[in-house]
Amino acid sequence: MNQLFNLKVNIPEKKEYSYDILIGEGFFQNFEEIVKKYSSANKFLIVTNETIYKLYKDKIQLGSSKFVILPDGEEYKNFENFKKILDAAIENRLERKDCIIAFGGGVIGDMAGYAAASYMRGIDFIQVPTTLLSMVDSSVGGKVAINHEHGKNLIGAFYQPKVVIADISTLKTLDKRQLKTGIGEVLKYAFIEKSCGADLNYRFFDFLKNNKDKIYNLDVDTVSNLINICCSLKAAVVNKDETEKGIRAILNLGHTFAHAIENLTNYVVYTHGEAVAIGMKMAFKLALLEKYIEKSYYDEALELIDLYDLVPAFSDLSKDDLYNEMFLDKKAQNGKVRFVIPNGSFEVGIFSDVSKQYVFEAMN
Ligand SMILES: NC(=O)c1ccc[n+]([C@@H]2O[C@H](COP(=O)([O-])OP(=O)(O)OC[C@H]3O[C@@H](n4cnc5c(N)ncnc54)[C@H](O)[C@@H]3O)[C@@H](O)[C@H]2O)c1
Repeated sequence: MNQLFNLKVNIPEKKEYSYDILIGEGFFQNFEEIVKKYSSANKFLIVTNETIYKLYKDKIQLGSSKFVILPDGEEYKNFENFKKILDAAIENRLERKDCIIAFGGGVIGDMAGYAAASYMRGIDFIQVPTTLLSMVDSSVGGKVAINHEHGKNLIGAFYQPKVVIADISTLKTLDKRQLKTGIGEVLKYAFIEKSCGADLNYRFFDFLKNNKDKIYNLDVDTVSNLINICCSLKAAVVNKDETEKGIRAILNLGHTFAHAIENLTNYVVYTHGEAVAIGMKMAFKLALLEKYIEKSYYDEALELIDLYDLVPAFSDLSKDDLYNEMFLDKKAQNGKVRFVIPNGSFEVGIFSDVSKQYVFEAMN
């Protein structure tokens, strides 16, 4: 086992929510031992999807576990599949001290986490993320949810896992587009680093500028380091504001635009990370127009996004539709859209009063 990092999320007012994030390789060799260190459950329900089950069923065997194998795709992150997890928990007579393990990307993690939060008012939950996006973002911080026909992640909870086990060897089977979508969220951390208030200065922007090939070639040390930095930054934010009453909103850089783009294209044209990359470009343009940032920083930031080749040809969406869609976002407050916008190098602010004309120009 090659455990390169062991981070802690520690939410001061909720001591029991402190948990480890294990980042490295080889955790499946003694998976049972690791899992049992963090949960005293007698029964484990492993929630995964068809794709991941085919690839990894032999790797994650646990003595007394049962699998729930769901169909693969964002469109299945719904009530029906949420209920399938609860049905399996009931059929297998899971009790209060038992545990649900999410083995998969963000879709599985969000859905299994919400089931763990709901079943018997909350049982143990372990995240085993298998996509880059879920390793750097969705598995940490405790947001769990399912989609509703009227909105993404509309039904959910804040529910922290007992441990996150990120085995980067799983990234080898991820296709290139999915790896890239994770990079969309990764870049976000470079642009918000100063605002996260972490103890260390990671200079993540430079790290990303200098390590593209190693990252895309999945060099173990580089990718572990990358996940460690992202999780450290996210943990620093979550530790201050678990339930997004304030600073946690900075993690949504690019997301106001991204959610509107995803909604208008029914989640089938762009992956989440692609939409976030487009959204970040728009946020940077808005920041430049509002004179929150220098042109030199704007150029550098866009160069970094382009270096990773994340943004596919952008289909021609109506700006009016996009603008209106933003007001339907669940993060809009009192009819006002809150934009997270760069307001200095590697830092961002949250603004409600931005010029409508600039928002339209940013969408160019
Ligand atoms: N909770 C949060 O804080 C948070 C943050 C960001 C995103 N999200 C959610 O995360 C979801 C997106 O997550 P995602 O990008 O991981 O998508 P995903 O879970 O749909 O996974 C992407 C694809 O990769 C496949 N896959 C997963 N691991 C694999 C592996 N190791 N090898 C081969 N194929 C593999 C999956 O089967 C799927 O087809 C969205 O629903 C989004 O709302 C949640």
